[in-house]
Amino acid sequence: MSTDKSCCGPECCSDEPVATLTRGATSTESIATSGEEVRAVVREKYGEAAKRAAAGESATCGCGTTCCSDTSEVWDPITTNLYAEGETAGIPAEALLASLGCGNPTALAQLHEGERVLDLGSGGGIDVLLSAKRVGPTGKAYGLDMTDEMLALAQENKRRSGFTNVEFLKGEIEHIPLPANSVDVIISNCVINLSADKRQVLREAFRVLAPGGRFAVSDVVLKGDLPPEVRRSVGLFTGCVSGALTEDEFTTQLAEAGFVDADIEPTRAYTREDVQALLDAVGLSDPNLVEQVNGRVMSAFIRARKPA
Ligand SMILES: C[S@@+](CC[C@H](N)C(=O)[O-])C[C@H]1O[C@@H](n2cnc3c(N)ncnc32)[C@H](O)[C@@H]1O
Repeated sequence: MSTDKSCCGPECCSDEPVATLTRGATSTESIATSGEEVRAVVREKYGEAAKRAAAGESATCGCGTTCCSDTSEVWDPITTNLYAEGETAGIPAEALLASLGCGNPTALAQLHEGERVLDLGSGGGIDVLLSAKRVGPTGKAYGLDMTDEMLALAQENKRRSGFTNVEFLKGEIEHIPLPANSVDVIISNCVINLSADKRQVLREAFRVLAPGGRFAVSDVVLKGDLPPEVRRSVGLFTGCVSGALTEDEFTTQLAEAGFVDADIEPTRAYTREDVQALLDAVGLSDPNLVEQVNGRVMSAFIRARKPA
């Protein structure tokens, strides 16, 4: 599978179906090889996005978009305008430029001084740095990511920020390299949808949270099933849409992992125009598909708690 990063628009999008990205593989316990294949595709895309951000360009090559060499005309309804101005004081501009999430988990997570926070799929580090600011020098903010280029970018943003209570870890969110009961809050911003084994991610989140710990995650969530063509689209998978869980799947899988008090709060509803742009970008410009997808995709804040 390849994605042509020098090309923008439907005429040049690679959108061949990939067996490992079908609904079956994303919603059931996946075999190791399919998980590896999915991670390789995701690493390729987000490595490219990190290189762009490191070169001082907007990272727009993330959720909601395909990777294009000319980003001037890319309209990204998912990642734009996530952070309020006052909130990002003290955060390096480069970290903001590298932002590829679909929400603002630290704004909704109610972080306190001294808490230990872990960001799953921390990318360029924006939410880790915002967390570090909130938990202060007695707290700690960890970022976990599997993509080397993203980790390099995050380390550079940490250096620029001057925060000392920050640590970036290399690894997979399906196998978190931290001991059990070691963090108070798990945040994440538009990453769990990219995992081939979401149940395993939620089990790992539960394991590393201390009793009473909070799951406070932004992600794309579906309000119903998507048509098979959309589910199979590689561009829409790496663009954070077609691998997303439905509301019911998310709450069920959180409960299966042991979480309680799960709640899903919509934070951004995508309009027909947004859906059209997302489908156009991967060459699926069929009006019937737009109709079928319209009203089914949203960004949301997902809360849950590990029992005390
Ligand atoms: C859409 S970007 C979001 C980055 C960041 N959370 C933000 O808001 O800017 C997805 C990030 O998750 C990372 N990622 C995706 N799947 C992962 C996995 N299975 N394990 C670890 N990191 C993963 C990618 O490398 C990428 O940096």
